[in-house]
Amino acid sequence: MKVVAIQASPHRGNTYDRVERLGEALTALGDVEFEHIALAERDIQPCRGCFVCFMRGEGLCPIQDDRAAIEEKIAGADGVVFATPVHSMHVSTLMKTIVDRLAYTFHRPRYFGKYAVGLAVTGGVGLKEALGYIRMFSGAWGFEYIDELKYTDPPRNTTMPRFMESTDRVDEVAKKLHGLMRSRPPRRVSVNDHLTFHAMRAVYGRLERFSPTDHAYWSERGWLEPRTRYFTQHARVGFLKSIYPRLVAWIMGRSLDRGLANQKPSEE
Ligand SMILES: Cc1cc2nc3c(=O)[nH]c(=O)nc-3n(C[C@H](O)[C@H](O)[C@H](O)COP(=O)(O)O)c2cc1C
Repeated sequence: MKVVAIQASPHRGNTYDRVERLGEALTALGDVEFEHIALAERDIQPCRGCFVCFMRGEGLCPIQDDRAAIEEKIAGADGVVFATPVHSMHVSTLMKTIVDRLAYTFHRPRYFGKYAVGLAVTGGVGLKEALGYIRMFSGAWGFEYIDELKYTDPPRNTTMPRFMESTDRVDEVAKKLHGLMRSRPPRRVSVNDHLTFHAMRAVYGRLERFSPTDHAYWSERGWLEPRTRYFTQHARVGFLKSIYPRLVAWIMGRSLDRGLANQKPSEE
């Protein structure tokens, strides 16, 4: 089983050490290959905002750096740890940069069947904001977000005190991730998961002329077929939980139909 950590501290400090410790806990459980990717030690350049990845495909991104290699690592993993220090009440710039560079994944989600763990290290505050963001983007990209590790560690090489003592759940979270990767139970699809699927389908099903790359991606996977109930078949999809999301998507669809009726793709 393979676990990759995407670690977004600009130096080898507290976040680096916390990720190393999680790696040790995971490998001690056996049958785990752990890879720690420190983004600061890779070449990841900021998005230029050209929107080529969204409209024409990520293979045409004009930036030549390690983005594709990192994406390949994520694609080859069973579990991914997204780890960040809290910077200015949020994830670090490095974490935001890699999320922006992979932002087409919000339109074309792909990590179903993989588990995500959030890890954040703060000096005092901001864990909720940073971890909330990791939870949001990993879920939108298809991961099952299973747990998170929160740390309050004073900045290195300073006289700042430790503001909070808390129990380290690293062994518990490692065990949970290990168990899930081994047993791979069908995903429990929540009302929110249904809502994401049906609302996105209402949008991308209507964007054949406006966003053909996204539309083709959805179509090729059978996600636009009326009988398809969720992104992956390895899921427990309760029909009752899908009633409200289907209704919301239907209302959205009608409103989109009205809005799109008189519009032309701007490139035409
Ligand atoms: C640019 C910057 C911004 C920071 N912003 C916050 C913050 O908003 N709230 C906070 O409690 N700590 C903040 N910190 C402190 C770090 O979260 C804390 O020192 C953490 O342990 C750093 O982990 P690291 O060693 O991996 O860099 C900030 C640190 C830096 C360098």
